[in-house]
Amino acid sequence: MFFDPGEVGMKPEPFKHTVYNALVVPRPIGWISTLSADGVVNLAPFSFFNSLSADPPCVMFCPNGVKPGTDEPKDTLTNVEATGEFVFNMCTYELREAMIITAVHEPASIDEMVQAGLEPAACEKVKPPRVRNSPIAMECEYLQTVHLPPPKDGTRSNLVIGQVVGIHVDDAVIVDGIIDVRKIGPLARLGYLDYARIAPENVFSLTPPGGDHRYKEKPA
Ligand SMILES: Cc1cc2nc3c(=O)[nH]c(=O)nc-3n(C[C@H](O)[C@H](O)[C@H](O)COP(=O)(O)O)c2cc1C
Repeated sequence: MFFDPGEVGMKPEPFKHTVYNALVVPRPIGWISTLSADGVVNLAPFSFFNSLSADPPCVMFCPNGVKPGTDEPKDTLTNVEATGEFVFNMCTYELREAMIITAVHEPASIDEMVQAGLEPAACEKVKPPRVRNSPIAMECEYLQTVHLPPPKDGTRSNLVIGQVVGIHVDDAVIVDGIIDVRKIGPLARLGYLDYARIAPENVFSLTPPGGDHRYKEKPA
């Protein structure tokens, strides 16, 4: 089938639900911690998240729409634009239950790390805390918000870009000089209510013909 989303929207026959979120999968989850201007910790998952560049490292995420029942942007966007800082925390399979709690819309006065039973850890260069049990965290300085074409419901779509200024890696996932993703078990977002876990047996290597000078072969 073919459809033009501008003409028929995101739920044409025979789809029962909005289909777009099932079309680009798996998506990494940026679990973003911020501080409000009043110093309250906020934490929320964003699967419209990705790495943008490696040198200098930059990341992006998209806090779209509004807080339910209001015209206000999501707390994460408000906080990033007010303070100029955010932290990417990697979400793992182990942390999935806490992650889903942090997707609940809470008033800005609620500390969402406490709410999800997570322990904060201080960052080095930015004020928002990171999630202590997340094996990888990246401290980010806000660069800019790109305003994407707005949806028909009159809400906003925003792309936030930040530059990574500090990187935390749990020593336990560094094996023989590489990050061993088998020890991390990252969580990825699929469509609808589905997720995927990078299990050790799902990881394999491919080498381009002629080899890749950047990486030596991993032991079998
Ligand atoms: C796995 C997952 C991914 C999500 N990705 C996004 C996203 O990319 N953009 C977005 O606006 N909301 C996304 N959400 C919903 C937000 O996490 C939710 O609106 C959250 O309450 C926002 O919190 P805040 O108001 O504290 O910023 C996602 C939810 C889940 C569970």
